[in-house]
Amino acid sequence: MPDRPAPARLARAADRGVAPGRLRELRASEEERYRRARPNSRALSTASASGYYAGVPLHWMLDWPLPFPLVIAGAQGATLTDVDGHRLADFCLGDSGSMFGHSPAPVARALAVQAAHGLAYMLPTEHGRVVGRLLSERFGLPHWQVATTASDANRFALRVARAVTGRAKILIMNGCYHGAVDETYVSLEGSRAVNSPGLIGQFADLTAGTKVVEFNDVPALERALAAQDVACVITEPVLTNCCMVPPQPGYHAALRKLTRATGTLLLIDETHTISAGPYGYSGAFGLEPDIFVLGKPIAGGVPASVWGFTEAVAAGWDRVRRDKPPGHSGLGTTLSANALAMAAMRATLSEVMTDAAYAHMEALAAQLAGGLAGAIALHRLPWHVARVGARVEFVCAPGPLRDGREAGRAQSPELERAIHIGLLNRGCVIAPFHNMMLVCPATTPAQVDGLVGAFGEIVGTLAG
Ligand SMILES: Cc1ncc(COP(=O)(O)O)c(C=O)c1O
Repeated sequence: MPDRPAPARLARAADRGVAPGRLRELRASEEERYRRARPNSRALSTASASGYYAGVPLHWMLDWPLPFPLVIAGAQGATLTDVDGHRLADFCLGDSGSMFGHSPAPVARALAVQAAHGLAYMLPTEHGRVVGRLLSERFGLPHWQVATTASDANRFALRVARAVTGRAKILIMNGCYHGAVDETYVSLEGSRAVNSPGLIGQFADLTAGTKVVEFNDVPALERALAAQDVACVITEPVLTNCCMVPPQPGYHAALRKLTRATGTLLLIDETHTISAGPYGYSGAFGLEPDIFVLGKPIAGGVPASVWGFTEAVAAGWDRVRRDKPPGHSGLGTTLSANALAMAAMRATLSEVMTDAAYAHMEALAAQLAGGLAGAIALHRLPWHVARVGARVEFVCAPGPLRDGREAGRAQSPELERAIHIGLLNRGCVIAPFHNMMLVCPATTPAQVDGLVGAFGEIVGTLAG
């Protein structure tokens, strides 16, 4: 997720067990090392060389904590190669777009075959029929739609939820991220809901249509749903986008009970937590969403997303379609469910997201989490490690975290910046946001050992 919000930007290194002088020195030396080793990246990423606004085709690429962007020559499996010839163990994996590795062979084959038979027809395909069945079998919901990004899937699903329930509002968790979905950019400032501070060009008061509560706060949820004016609660099962916040025991049961009791739909966004296992966090922990959203890795890195829903939601949507006047629905985009994406999704679902792949990811992620926690303990830092299946995160603050507010306070951007660049200089790429590391089916034990070793060396320097 891009454009990190800034609630805790001012966290001081000393509060995190690190001497500020050491942090400054480390960061300066690592930045210099990065600059020296990457003349080609530097030349290619200057604005005049690229022709792009701010030098990059997507401004999020500037959110990496680097002196200038790392320009990539290619990637395979769990390895990135940059234009200066460095081979890097990739634990970012496109912030989960390539959660199952770069160019998995079945996806690459399916794309090559489909490329010769048309890319976009806006008509159903044979692959598409199989994909619908695979989605229903895997995630247990009877009805599915395909969109191009997880942002779109969430946006369309929320529209349908409002139409079906006849209610205008949605409810989100403080600190959440569900993509570029306007109505989810609301945060708590103290106990007051406000438009999220970093939002650009939004002049509407989003709090009119969006309620926000802290994750894990059952009484607040109960109060917010009591008026029965909320169409849908949208949440990740574990907040992953603000420093990982796990659900406390009983939270999901309470969430489901309260949403059902108030006629509120429950949308579980598994775009990141599909790392939990082949059936997502919902499958692993028996959650029962009315609407299930999954984007990013579902087509192996080709833009595609899916959203599934229950018979009851489908019946409501039927009714809405029957009763509405003619005209655009505001749902769907031209290239969604195109032939290329459907071929890639079929290959991903049937040959890539296998139990065996997940077993490998889970085992190595556990090894990674253990190694990082060991280094933190060795240097007596007040930090912790969190994990959801193949997804691991080190947090430079004590844990586990309870909610979005605590997660905001746990962020320590200056410290994290120094660690990120130090890891990159030692051959390991982690996600630029909240220290996320993903293990894919192609990740090797040696790559995990390399990351643990590099992390240990860096925190050893910081802690003295
Ligand atoms: C939980 C969650 N939902 C939705 C999205 C949006 O995905 P996309 O950028 O592919 O639209 C993200 C992106 O990070 C996400 O983390």
